[in-house]
Amino acid sequence: MPRRILNSKTFRKFDEEKAREYAVIANEVFAPIYPVIAAQIMARCNVGTGLCIDVGTGTANLAIALAKSTSLNFCVMDLSWDILDLARENIGREGLAGRVSPVAGDVHRIPFQDGIASLVVSRGSMRFWRNRPAAFREFARILRPGGKGYVGGGLGSSVLAEEISQEMIRRGAEWQNKPKTKFRKSDSAEWEVIMEKAGFSEYEVICDDSGTWIYFEK
Ligand SMILES: C[S@@+](CC[C@H](N)C(=O)[O-])C[C@H]1O[C@@H](n2cnc3c(N)ncnc32)[C@H](O)[C@@H]1O
Repeated sequence: MPRRILNSKTFRKFDEEKAREYAVIANEVFAPIYPVIAAQIMARCNVGTGLCIDVGTGTANLAIALAKSTSLNFCVMDLSWDILDLARENIGREGLAGRVSPVAGDVHRIPFQDGIASLVVSRGSMRFWRNRPAAFREFARILRPGGKGYVGGGLGSSVLAEEISQEMIRRGAEWQNKPKTKFRKSDSAEWEVIMEKAGFSEYEVICDDSGTWIYFEK
């Protein structure tokens, strides 16, 4: 696969320099959210073995947190090679290279065979996807029957969100202007169409203190 996969706006958002900036934020500021979100995922999905695919993994912090609390194996996928290099560093530092494998790929055309995954997770990536129905069709394809998914965005809790906001502002970020995940009434109808087209009859939109997430079962 070529080193540069996509010539897209998203790719430029996660080029080498931006990837390094993101790694610092994920490893230093967001660090406390990943174990909390991992626990929320496990409480909901209860999938402790098999293969988990973390889509738009960034520096693999969520997969690392999940690896520490389960026996799952992981493929952590991202379309940015630069961010995957930093994910590899994090995975190595945690001694998880045997269980967590970085893979380059786009959510719209996931490079895995049908029915391979027991669990699909993704945090903070969906807002970059240009075609959510296509992405969810891919999730339906790669999940095994009975497999589960937990995809969306959030900072774990309102307390953590407030602490992160303070720290980001302290670091000089224009955090007040960061896009917030809003959930409108019309979104319910949109999700119904997306999930029906993808073939998921069991799903739930979670919109609470933890963020906005779509939980689904195949
Ligand atoms: C805000 S970061 C979130 C990273 C990580 N999931 C986390 O929670 O820290 C979004 C990530 O999604 C990736 N991404 C965006 N669009 C993607 C796509 N179409 N396919 C795969 N990854 C994508 C970006 O390269 C980036 O690493």
